[in-house]
Amino acid sequence: MKVLTGTPPQLARWAADRVLHRLRTRSLSVLGVATGSSPLPVYRALAASGEPALASLRVFALDEYVGLPHHHPQSYHCVVDREVTRPLGLDPARVHVPDGAADDLDAAAAEYEHLIAASGGIDLQVLGIGANGHVGFNEPFSSLRSRTRVETLTARTRRDNARFFGGDLQQVPTSCLTQGLGTILDADEVVLIATGAAKAHAVAQMVEGPLSSACPASVLQLHPRATVLLDDRAAAQL
Ligand code: GLP
Repeated sequence: MKVLTGTPPQLARWAADRVLHRLRTRSLSVLGVATGSSPLPVYRALAASGEPALASLRVFALDEYVGLPHHHPQSYHCVVDREVTRPLGLDPARVHVPDGAADDLDAAAAEYEHLIAASGGIDLQVLGIGANGHVGFNEPFSSLRSRTRVETLTARTRRDNARFFGGDLQQVPTSCLTQGLGTILDADEVVLIATGAAKAHAVAQMVEGPLSSACPASVLQLHPRATVLLDDRAAAQL
């Protein structure tokens, strides 16, 4: 994997330029997006570019909480709509998020995999990383070949994400639907952004540790076109 370092605005610029370059050279029609705070500056840079070809994108989110209605402000349906679909001027019909409110979650997961495949696969997947090394919501000890499925959130992830729920842990869902590590590896290119000291340990495990499900992001060592964008604090333990 290629590792680049810079300030958070430089990293966002790099990732946005990569998306725009592939869009303009017609090698990107399906974009994978991550939620979480790290990639937000990338979406803002894309929106600011005013590139008309953005409207031709089809977008797939990585994951969604189970049990939140789609209109809940912290559901990833709402987050993606707020941070990606509207700012980039996308047609909502071309933006997909796993259905964590489905009665049959296993069927919803299978349908999501089918939809990604039917779209021709993800050309470029934007990723963040959890402090415990998760990507999407693939928690430690996920199968390295996993596909979209229901996953139980760890206590650490629920604590980390409580900030989005007014600090109230009780409000944080206990499970989710997430693309699997195998699904993520199928993307043609992945760009992972990590900023801040809280990510330094997970970043070191991902880049320099053994390929191990103990750090799910280490699976990216297997990807032929993976770029990791780090600020100084996230790169501190390399
Ligand atoms: C959530 C998301 C991940 C994201 C992670 C890190 O758990 N499911 O896709 O990478 O948060 O979030 P942040 O960038 O806010 O630290």
